[in-house]
Amino acid sequence: MSLRLCGASLIAALAALSLKGCSDDSNPAKEKAHTITLRNGVKMPILAAGTWQYNDSVAEQVVVDALNSGFSHIDTAYDYDNQVGVGKGLKRSGKPRHSIFVTTKVPGCGIQNSSGVSVDVCKTQTVDKIEMDLQQLNLSYLDMVLIHFPPCPGEDGTHKSPSESSCYAPKSGCTHPQACDLVRAQWGVLTDYYQQKKIKAIGVSNYCQACFHCLANVTEMPMVNQVQLHVGMGSNPQGFLSFAEANKVVLQAYSPFGSGGHGSSEILAGNLTTSIGAKYKKSAAQVALKWIASRNVGIATKSASKEHLKANADIFDFKLSDEDMASLDAATFAAEDTPSFLCNDPAPSAAAVQRVVV
Ligand SMILES: NC(=O)c1ccc[n+]([C@@H]2O[C@H](COP(=O)([O-])OP(=O)(O)OC[C@H]3O[C@@H](n4cnc5c(N)ncnc54)[C@H](OP(=O)(O)O)[C@@H]3O)[C@@H](O)[C@H]2O)c1
Ligand SMILES: *[C@@H]1O[C@H](CO)[C@@H](O)[C@H](O)[C@H]1NC(C)=O
Ligand SMILES: *[C@@H]1O[C@H](CO)[C@@H](O)[C@H](O)[C@H]1NC(C)=O
Ligand SMILES: *[C@@H]1O[C@H](CO)[C@@H](O)[C@H](O)[C@H]1NC(C)=O
Ligand SMILES: *[C@@H]1O[C@H](CO)[C@@H](O)[C@H](O)[C@H]1NC(C)=O
Ligand SMILES: *[C@@H]1O[C@H](CO)[C@@H](O)[C@H](O)[C@H]1NC(C)=O
Repeated sequence: MSLRLCGASLIAALAALSLKGCSDDSNPAKEKAHTITLRNGVKMPILAAGTWQYNDSVAEQVVVDALNSGFSHIDTAYDYDNQVGVGKGLKRSGKPRHSIFVTTKVPGCGIQNSSGVSVDVCKTQTVDKIEMDLQQLNLSYLDMVLIHFPPCPGEDGTHKSPSESSCYAPKSGCTHPQACDLVRAQWGVLTDYYQQKKIKAIGVSNYCQACFHCLANVTEMPMVNQVQLHVGMGSNPQGFLSFAEANKVVLQAYSPFGSGGHGSSEILAGNLTTSIGAKYKKSAAQVALKWIASRNVGIATKSASKEHLKANADIFDFKLSDEDMASLDAATFAAEDTPSFLCNDPAPSAAAVQRVVV
């Protein structure tokens, strides 16, 4: 048997070995640097490995590879239709459950087999979706559940994608007269699960400012809002960062390489990210992720390549200078991209000063 050292200190290494083997979470300093503390004290690993568009077998393999490449957070969703594969990957990785952070989502009522026709049906179907998430993933608790997007009142759930719904073109977000009722209904269900400790943290995704205003005065505000954010969208697109900060909501960036939007080639191979990376011996992709992490925003990124997964996890040994951060903040090559595909939020100047009453 060979002795493998976990960290710099032999004593720490031996302690870790005898307690739980050589795992990354044996080093508290490292753990702290890699997590963002949510308002309820839960530590969310900054980096999540996404699984969108993967079938069960690819998702299973990606989960195993990601967990072996330095990721400890997996992002999936009811709608990705791959939670059985994700669950198998979690088990096959052999990692203890407590060392993995699993995020999944439930559809906003109206789309993806979740009705937005009545508040009661919306509630029941939100319960059903959480139960299906637990069952498909084969887990007894979830680290985080997000409401995937704002509701689409009046739609019965037959549309598979929000982009096929009547809410897409007007980007009506939560401005429809019935939207707040559905938002509060779904949020109440998540809050119940949170209070029963079956979900450790609760949040939302693609939520507009208007949706947060629907939740004024609730006992638990969303802890996270997962939205599109990447280099090229400017430093505070549609005021989402300042609004989140003012309301103590942690943002989590999806599509950090611009997937599905504008600028992915600019991000992964453009001069700005490439030339900055060269200064730190890092790739353009690593710079793009580091820019997000440096703003205390979480990241859901995706790769089916072991090499990319390892590189994407390796962003904690350098710090971008203020000057480089400012150049990345100022990039607007993907200014057409918006944090949520359903919002018509006010301009940043108005948004930054608004505050939800809690
Ligand atoms: N809440 C929502 O509505 C929502 C919406 C979109 C996404 N998400 C979540 O966010 C996750 C990530 O977003 P995304 O799927 O849009 O993609 P992304 O992370 O922005 O980009 C993924 C693409 O980048 C490539 N890539 C990854 N690492 C790379 C590297 N180091 N060098 C070069 N290319 C690299 C991948 O190809 P390879 O596989 O070849 O590496 C893949 O084609 C999703 O999987 C999902 O979990 C959530
Ligand atoms: C899953 O997707 C991969 C890659 O696209 C493909 O090779 C494989 O056949 C798919 N598996 C199933 C069961 O559809
Ligand atoms: C749709 O949701 C119902 C419960 O609300 C469930 O019984 C059914 O299996 C779901 N269908 C799909 C395709 O997930
Ligand atoms: C669910 O996980 C348990 C162990 O935690 C395992 O015994 C069981 O086979 C799994 N079920 C499925 C359907 O994979
Ligand atoms: C929240 O409470 C404040 C103060 O009581 C009240 O003015 C406001 O209307 C409430 N908002 C909602 C959406 O209930
Ligand atoms: C490339 O980016 C660097 C860093 O922002 C900048 O100094 C340089 O002028 C850029 N070069 C070109 C050709 O755009």
